[in-house]
Formats: sequence, C-alpha cells, structure tokens
Amino acid sequence: MSIPLLDLKQQYATIRDEVLRVTNEVYESQYFILGPRVDAFERDFAAYCQSKYAVGLSSGTDALLIALMVLGVGPGDEVIVPAYSFFATAGVVDRLGATPVFVDIDLADYNIDPKQIESRITSCTKAIMPVHLYGQCAAMDEINRIATKHNLAVVEDAAQAVGAEYDGRRAGVLGTIGAFSFFPSKNLGAFGDAGAVTCEDHETYEKLIDFRVHGMRPKYYHRYVGGNFRIDALQAAILHIKLPHLDAWSEGRRRNAAIYAELFAETNFGDRIVLPRELPKRRHIYNQYIVRFADNAARDRVLNHLKSAGIGCEVYYPLTLPQQECFTDVPSASEHFPHSDAAAATTLAIPIFPELTKDQMAEVVREIGNGLG
Ligand SMILES: Cc1ncc(COP(=O)(O)O)c(C=O)c1O
Repeated sequence: MSIPLLDLKQQYATIRDEVLRVTNEVYESQYFILGPRVDAFERDFAAYCQSKYAVGLSSGTDALLIALMVLGVGPGDEVIVPAYSFFATAGVVDRLGATPVFVDIDLADYNIDPKQIESRITSCTKAIMPVHLYGQCAAMDEINRIATKHNLAVVEDAAQAVGAEYDGRRAGVLGTIGAFSFFPSKNLGAFGDAGAVTCEDHETYEKLIDFRVHGMRPKYYHRYVGGNFRIDALQAAILHIKLPHLDAWSEGRRRNAAIYAELFAETNFGDRIVLPRELPKRRHIYNQYIVRFADNAARDRVLNHLKSAGIGCEVYYPLTLPQQECFTDVPSASEHFPHSDAAAATTLAIPIFPELTKDQMAEVVREIGNGLG
C-alpha cells in the first residue's frame, strides 16, 4: 500500500463545509485586507498560545524577520541560532545585515545545545533564536537564564511548534517574541502561506502592528521602515475555523508517536534506529516524526527502500545551515558542528499525520526493517 508523508485531503474532508462557508463569507464581503476576521483569529490564536498578543502575518519567515526588525537587529549585530534548522532561521538574520552565529544542537531533541551558547556571546550579540524543531521545545529554562544574564532578547522560532509546551507553558510565551508558520504542512496549516507572532509586552505589540504595514501610523505616516507582512483575511478566516480542531489533531500525532514506539519495540532493530524522545517538561506536538540511523549509508538505504515501496519520507534537512553555500563567508560557518552534521546525514522523517492508521504505521515499520536488511 502507498502511504504519503502527509495527507491533507483527509483533514480537509472533515472541515470542508465550515471552510466553504467561511471562505464564501469572505468572498461575499469582498473584505480581504486585515479587518474583523484577522482580529478574531489573532484574539483566539493569542488565547490558544496563552499569550497576551498575537499578530497575523504573511509567513513564518516574515514572522521571524519582523521579530528581529522590531528588536532593532541590524548591521553589526549577532544573533545566535542553531546550526541545524530550516533555512529561514538564519536567512532572516543575514537579510537584516546581521551575522548568524551558529551553535551545535543536542541530538536528544535536535535543538540548540544550551551548554554551547554562552561562550558564543560577544558585545555584538543582540538575541538568541532557539528553534523548537519538529514540534518539541528547546531547553528554554537554560536559554532564558543565559539571555537574562546577558540582557539579550529571545526570539522563539516556533514555526513547527504551535501548541508545544515547556513546563506547562506554550510555545510563543517562552521568550520575548514567538514566531509561527502556518505553511500547509504545519499542525495548523493555512491554504497557502501565513504566519504569526506572539508577545507579552504592549510596546512590542504596537511595534509589530506598525511594522506589519510598512511602519505606518497613522495612514501614510511612516515612523519606521517595515514591510507588507500582512496575513490575508481569507487565510485568517480558514485558520480561525481550523484552530478549535488543532489540539485533537496534535493529540492524534502524539497517539501515533506512542503507537510507533510500541511497534518499534516489537522489532529487532535495536540501536540501528533511534526514535524521537519527549524530554522532561515538554509536550511534543510531532510536526515531524524523526528517526535516526547508525550512519549515512543506512539512512539512505532505508530512504531509497521506503520511496520504492511507496512510503512517503523526507530528509529534514540534508545540509546544516553552516554548510549552505550562501553562508560561506559567515565566520562561525567554518567551525565544527558534529551533532548537526550527524542529524543531516542520518535522520529521516516518516509519516505521523493524525489520520494515519495503525496498519499503515505497522507497514512503515515493516518496510523500514526491509530497508535496514
Ligand atoms: C523552523 C522553521 N523556521 C521558519 C520557517 C519559515 O516558515 P514559512 O515557510 O511559513 O515562511 C519554517 C517553515 O518551514 C520552519 O520550519
């Protein structure tokens, strides 16, 4: 049987009527830019994140970008980022003329290793940008302790972590500003690109609101140079419909992770495969379910076998950030990041979407075994 990495059509079938109703309402209103639907989504999304404020934006990338802009990050500044993440994490730093400073990850959760942060702080460091990769929060106690000691802002890249928790608190309220992506493959996915930021501080919120529309307040008076980072009213309306379902969908992913743990425990794969682990204090929302193999050859063997067996899988990400060609001139890129290198070479994402059945998961596990040989 063919099993996709993600099947959005199944989810859509459960909310089709609501989505068609609300999108039709937007069409009939011909009200497309900001307005009541964006306000309503922002209000409920802030509440979902246990946050005081949320601002709807055009994408997760723009959420990271606007967060750094509002914090005044610019040329000469340094921002500490993990060496292993989606490109946007470091791309936005570079785009503002600042320098990403790469720090290796911990293989226990694929997130920035807090023990390696402090030695990288200089007089130019402006912020730390932990990523809650795959849906599990970074070590926020340690990160916030370091940030407070050195008077640094913390921007959470929570693009993959909507609803993830650390010590009972949700992603988005664990730092100065939280940045989310609603790319369709995320646990809360738009019908296109969209994103949001969350924050607790009113002044920061006001700035985010202004930066979203070219730093404008009042109309046609520009105090800052911002951008057009607005979320579409249509996307906000759809996300608003989807939001009440989000916890059930994430619970479905968590249930599937537990089923995988049982299924793998019944195999003789032993330490030839390392499963994701939910660390203490965390609620993992499994935007991706990442397994790790002993070496690159074993990973690629399984990857090729799964593809030929019709099972969706993906390498997130084949290169570390310091390995990217565009970062050749970034000073820290020439350092060594053994854990990030290992993650890029040996990990694989396998299907975890909520509607996956136990039979399908059993098939995935069986084919991984066939691939391992
Ligand atoms: C960790 C991380 N940061 C940032 C982004 C950027 O989000 P978007 O694709 O919505 O611009 C993503 C999206 O995949 C991501 O996974």
